[in-house]
Amino acid sequence: IAGGYEAIESKRIGGAIGTPPMNANWWPGQLPIELLHSQSPSANPLGEDFDYPAAFASLDLDAVKKDILALLTTSQDFWPADYGNYGPQMIRMAWHSAGSYRVFDGRGGSAQGLQRFAPLYSWEDNGNIDKSIRLLQPIKLKYGDNISWADLIMLTGNLALEQMGFKTFGFGGGRIDCWEADDATYWGPETEMATQDKRWTGEPGTEDYDLENPLAASRQSLIYVHPEGPFGNMDPISSAQEIRITFGRMGMNDEETVALIAGGHAFGKSHGGSDKSHLGPEPSGAPIENQGLGWLNSNGSGNAQYTTTNGIEGAWTSNPTRWDHEYLKNLFKFEWEQTESPAGGKAWRPKNGEAADLIPDAHVEGLRHPPMMMTTDIALIKDPAYLKICEKFVEQPELLDDAFAKAWYKLIHRDMGPKNRLLGPDVPDESLIWQDPIPKCDHELIGEVDIIALKASILATEHSISALVSTAWASASTFRKTDLRGGANGARIQLEPMINWEVNNPRQLKGVLESLKEIQKTFNDAQTSKRVSIADLVVLAGSAAIEKAAKEAGVDVTVPFEPGRMDATQEQTDEHNISFLEPHADGFRNYVKGKYGTDTERMLIDRAHLLDLSAPELTALVGGLRVLDTNYDGSKHGVFTKKPGVLTNDFFINLLDINTKWKPVTDDNELFEGSDVATGEKKWSATRCDLVFGSNLQLRAVCDVYGASTGHEKFVHAFVKAWHKVMMLDRFELQNEWYRK
Ligand code: HEM
Repeated sequence: IAGGYEAIESKRIGGAIGTPPMNANWWPGQLPIELLHSQSPSANPLGEDFDYPAAFASLDLDAVKKDILALLTTSQDFWPADYGNYGPQMIRMAWHSAGSYRVFDGRGGSAQGLQRFAPLYSWEDNGNIDKSIRLLQPIKLKYGDNISWADLIMLTGNLALEQMGFKTFGFGGGRIDCWEADDATYWGPETEMATQDKRWTGEPGTEDYDLENPLAASRQSLIYVHPEGPFGNMDPISSAQEIRITFGRMGMNDEETVALIAGGHAFGKSHGGSDKSHLGPEPSGAPIENQGLGWLNSNGSGNAQYTTTNGIEGAWTSNPTRWDHEYLKNLFKFEWEQTESPAGGKAWRPKNGEAADLIPDAHVEGLRHPPMMMTTDIALIKDPAYLKICEKFVEQPELLDDAFAKAWYKLIHRDMGPKNRLLGPDVPDESLIWQDPIPKCDHELIGEVDIIALKASILATEHSISALVSTAWASASTFRKTDLRGGANGARIQLEPMINWEVNNPRQLKGVLESLKEIQKTFNDAQTSKRVSIADLVVLAGSAAIEKAAKEAGVDVTVPFEPGRMDATQEQTDEHNISFLEPHADGFRNYVKGKYGTDTERMLIDRAHLLDLSAPELTALVGGLRVLDTNYDGSKHGVFTKKPGVLTNDFFINLLDINTKWKPVTDDNELFEGSDVATGEKKWSATRCDLVFGSNLQLRAVCDVYGASTGHEKFVHAFVKAWHKVMMLDRFELQNEWYRK
């Protein structure tokens, strides 16, 4: 019977939760506000109270290391070890986990174990790293929550170096696992894997050859650089250019770059034993019975001598499981000619059949091979600057030992924030400049009474609410949750290069800092053991101004304040390294540095993500900063209030006013004018970062709350809470007692 119970029973189910097409398929241009709530605590099975530093401290690290060392030399049937030692493939696993890091936005890297999820886990360049991770599964299960996957992966890479005779610089734990795939990171414009046709401008070998920001990899689904040269051109000279760009984007200079490549390729081999047509799909595209493994190989045993990963075949040195200096020696010793592997991978071997027996086969007893070099290896002796470094390392191999140890340490820790976040007995004492060192607190801290007095002194200066709030925002908002750099601690806002960034309105900033220094001197001179830092005063200036602005709007609030920040010196500051923290756009201050290939409002969401803000926090902060009149250049865009400097909810009320009509007033649709529907009279001006709060339906829903008759107090409290969160993002020592040490 049509429409009856039986008929419903028999209906086909063609879709379930998340079946495309979804909103993102219908409207791919929509702002992905939901990404601000990705990596939510509810995805974390360990629960919000889980204290990883405490768990890590409870670990018998020596026992873990012993188990890892035993694993390295115990070959398993499902994936037999090359030369009976998993060390080289574990180094590659750790290197690839860390090598996706890029300095421009601090994204990628090893610190959250992103390697375990898409897209990285399934990138062609990470081929067979799924096997390395799978080999570690029993150790992970044995030690459970007390060691994160991210730490286990990196510790194994580090130990593999040690086990094969290399003295590392040290190891710090403290990487906290994420629990879902990372969709927030932009990995490049190409929509096909292993292509690179959209990210580069200019031709390889010309001065114009340049990589789109914030990318650090030369190809989609590659960690860093194409081993066969740009677009596979097998040209070592332009390959050197690509290496310099990609490793530079990773924050490595020439010497660090050479040390890393020469150090890494002292170990292991490349795999091109089978034609790639034998390989099954990558893990994320594999059938359910593969249980998270990919690239299953139907040729021969599918592993050992049949293994195909990159496709290039061969090893660099005659003892690929021992640390020695043969890599550079071989590079200089032979003349090299092009060769091709069974998998079609192109590389180089010694000319005229020389050294045909130098390298033992990784699996077949008695079989020998010539050494192999990739185009990227040859590049190191063809580029004049790299060549000089290689020559130095050949003459004084101990310099390579030192440079590789330091560069490796930087590689695997550089997205973990300051040194005090590193855990365990193997953390070196030395603070390194790329860790943006801040002196330890060495004085008594200011108390409640001092805080009240200092706030009064700040408010007694000539500076406006806007100037004081702007200064604190400029200082704290450099923070990035992606690599835990930046923030108000250290007061680098008063140092080069930050003090002169256009976004910081240097003239105004210097004026405020001058006054704060005077207040600091007067206060400190009157004390015996108590001190206040500029870093604390900058944050306090923001608190004082916000409290006053809220009071004038009729709401009494106290902005929470925890003293204890310290001031770094110019000598403790690597200007080049700090320059990567400069915002290219900061929609919170209506700032855009140039013309970019992405929407301005998308860059605002990106910045909110770096600051770990939710959609309501973002909305409250922008709404508050606008009425506090804190645009970097003093412009009135988005200042939808007749009382600038007072913490009203006017931004929301006026944005949601149904009697305002908006139209673009510039050809690039960056600026808009809002006029009265009835009279046509101009009321407001706005940028995309203002109007997005009215056009994006998720943000608009939040504005409804703050702009309602019930919304003012709610908004002020939300603003203060979000503001305080931003001021505190880098106070690791208060977030966890371990970081206080
Ligand atoms: C292996 C490329 C830098 C460590 C490989 C393979 C390729 C490659 C294609 C073979 C993968 C396979 O088929 O199994 C490059 C390029 C580099 C670079 C183009 C930069 C220009 C580094 C660095 C390190 C490193 C910086 C570590 C510090 C290794 C190790 C192996 C390896 C240990 C051997 C893995 C094994 O035996 O399974 N590299 N690499 N590489 N790479 Fe690199």
